[in-house]
Amino acid sequence: MRTQVGIIGAGPAGLLLSHLLHLRGISSVVLEKRSRDYVERRVRAGVLEQGTVDTLVEAGVGERMRREGLPHHGIELRYGGAGHRIPFEKLVPGRSITVYGQQEVVKDLIAARLAAGGDVRFEVEDVAVHSLESQPYVTFGGERLDCDVIAGCDGFHGVSRPAVPEGVLTVFEREYPFAWLGILARVKPSSEELIYARTDRGFALHSMRSPTVSRFYLQVPADTRVEEWPDERIWAELRARLESVPGFTLATGEIIEKGVTPMRSFVVEPMQYGRLYLAGDAAHIVPPTGAKGLNLAVADVRVLTEALAAFFEHGSTELLDGYSDACLKRVWRAQHFSWWMTTLLHTFEDDDPYGRRLQLSYLDYVTSSEAAATTLAENYVGLPYGS
Ligand code: FAD
Ligand code: DHB
Repeated sequence: MRTQVGIIGAGPAGLLLSHLLHLRGISSVVLEKRSRDYVERRVRAGVLEQGTVDTLVEAGVGERMRREGLPHHGIELRYGGAGHRIPFEKLVPGRSITVYGQQEVVKDLIAARLAAGGDVRFEVEDVAVHSLESQPYVTFGGERLDCDVIAGCDGFHGVSRPAVPEGVLTVFEREYPFAWLGILARVKPSSEELIYARTDRGFALHSMRSPTVSRFYLQVPADTRVEEWPDERIWAELRARLESVPGFTLATGEIIEKGVTPMRSFVVEPMQYGRLYLAGDAAHIVPPTGAKGLNLAVADVRVLTEALAAFFEHGSTELLDGYSDACLKRVWRAQHFSWWMTTLLHTFEDDDPYGRRLQLSYLDYVTSSEAAATTLAENYVGLPYGS
């Protein structure tokens, strides 16, 4: 079997890449180890930057997102007994975010690929990538797929990155001493906008998916198991962390999903080796506080599509050679923003009173200075591509 681009992983990165390549007349095969049902149900991100929304709309896969997605023009930072709004419409006019579940993006992309006759294979076993320096190929379930190029879109735990010979990639990373417990609940959101709450008990985030489904996250110790958090404990803790301003009451309902996400910052440089190009979580991870992971995956794939189009249309390797450098500028900006939002809003075990005062002082600055608030808003809605 032969294709132009062998894509490992049917997450947002792999599926969008396959779709964008199809629009440029470039063939690909997507190999995914999980089932279609599994990837369509995997609850993860929810915040789409302006550029991500524009990319999906331009690619013809944004119709349902435009209908069902929730545009947001601000977020609230809640701490010290008060809420402070960061108004995007004032600080970054014309730019906003859309709340639309990652699994909905994945569903829309799978539907588009299949409708166009795309080759997306689920539940493939033993995927391995070979001969990365030239004439690369992928093996899986006893089959062989020859390709011109391989795109490693298989997330942080995939097989693509570990296939690069030792010593080629430099790893930059930081682990955090906490995780996020994420839940999805059948209840009307208690706030119209997202609330990022910093409390002495830890961080909490109130997000949503629709007028009847809310999404919440709680900062928990790194080694937390979901079983330690029965529903009553979750609601009690969410109340304790979110009901900190007068008049705010948290509505509760049936919890329909629970999961623990470790927090990590991670980047490999370069994001390529021979004919292998890494995109999305396969190359970098951010802690979710800045809502940047999915958006970075989309940004990588845009760059890779242009580079592959130049390669297949004109035989030019210039953009492919510069792929990693072109992506890493945005990757590092998002790394800094995500680290900064994380340290601003979480409690750290080794915090001393001095550290806590610094954190509160910075929060006061961000919520009172227009310049500081603009920095937050500009990064949160996403810097324009190419800047
Ligand atoms: P993935 O989505 O991880 O996809 C990789 C795919 O490869 C998977 O389907 C996997 O099954 C498959 N795969 C793995 N190994 C193999 C193999 N050996 N063979 C074949 N297939 C394989 N980001 C945001 O932008 N905004 C947010 O609000 C946000 N919130 C988040 C909240 C949580 C709780 C979590 C966990 C993440 C959040 N993120 C957020 C991050 C975002 O979900 C990821 O950055 C995004 O999924 C990256 O997409 P990807 O396609 O690169 O990787
Ligand atoms: C959501 C996730 C995030 O990481 C974030 O910063 C905001 C919202 C969400 O899943 O809705």
